[in-house]
Amino acid sequence: MTQTKTNNHKNQKTGTKKLVVNDIVSMKNSEKISVITSYDYWSAKICDKIGVDIILVGDSGGMVMLGYTSTVPVNMKEMLIFSKAVSLGTKRSLIVSDMPFGSYQIDINHAVKNAIRFIKSGSDAVKLEGGIEIIDRIKAIIGVGIPVMGHIGLKPQTTKLWEGYKVQGNTANRGSQLLREAIELEKAGVFAIVLEMVTTEVAELISKSLKIPTIGIGSGSYCDGQVLVLHDMLNLYDNIRPRFVKTYTNLSEIILNAVHNYIIDVKTGKFPEEKHSYKIEEKEYERLVKIIKKIQKKISPSSPNISENKND
Ligand code: KIV
Repeated sequence: MTQTKTNNHKNQKTGTKKLVVNDIVSMKNSEKISVITSYDYWSAKICDKIGVDIILVGDSGGMVMLGYTSTVPVNMKEMLIFSKAVSLGTKRSLIVSDMPFGSYQIDINHAVKNAIRFIKSGSDAVKLEGGIEIIDRIKAIIGVGIPVMGHIGLKPQTTKLWEGYKVQGNTANRGSQLLREAIELEKAGVFAIVLEMVTTEVAELISKSLKIPTIGIGSGSYCDGQVLVLHDMLNLYDNIRPRFVKTYTNLSEIILNAVHNYIIDVKTGKFPEEKHSYKIEEKEYERLVKIIKKIQKKISPSSPNISENKND
């Protein structure tokens, strides 16, 4: 079983000021950006405390938290609940929320309205999947003052419908198309771009061509930052296991053992012990017995006696 180190985290960023979008942009060429997904209060609190730069409230939450088989069914209501919980657990990290499928495709007003709902629920920015085809909506959202993160390459909301989950940018044409899309997104004003499952060479080309940071997932080491789904790296979700995932600990096994031991303790009476229980004071117990006896006599005069010593 993988062991988790708990005591030697020397993260100097803990407790420093809240990160804003410009802090993230200025990390390009000086420091790699760490991004991780979170969808709830407790995991956001841990990620924030240890110094992750960006917490992404990904629509992957629809799969790893709600059990959907893709990111398509997750809706605004669910994403807003995730985002709110994350914002309550976060002090320093920048919070970016994924706009779910259907929340920005219809028209510009709809997209802007939904982006505003995320900011009101505590997010610092939103992420939209897509390139040139949604540039008007990206511009409109930025136009009302909301920072946007782009997302190109594999776009799980729609790629699956056309070609399935496949490596992106593996031909000269597809690679140059991705580069063009990245440049257009930068021009539109996005502050960073996620590159999902893009070949290492194309991701490097894009990263070197932009002034804004690229955040890779399965796109090699030349990106300016990396993102992983929390449940993947903790081995809490094994329905899909892309090759780009690195498992840092086996939390499934740890939880499994803990719950197994709990069941045994309950069945054998080992839990709860006295230290987990609460006692009534001796005097109060004696009074209680007297009260009960009186009640019993009234209801059924022949009922058995209760001991006045609470330890009998
Ligand atoms: O929803 C998500 O987790 C994402 C990442 C894969 C980038 O969009």
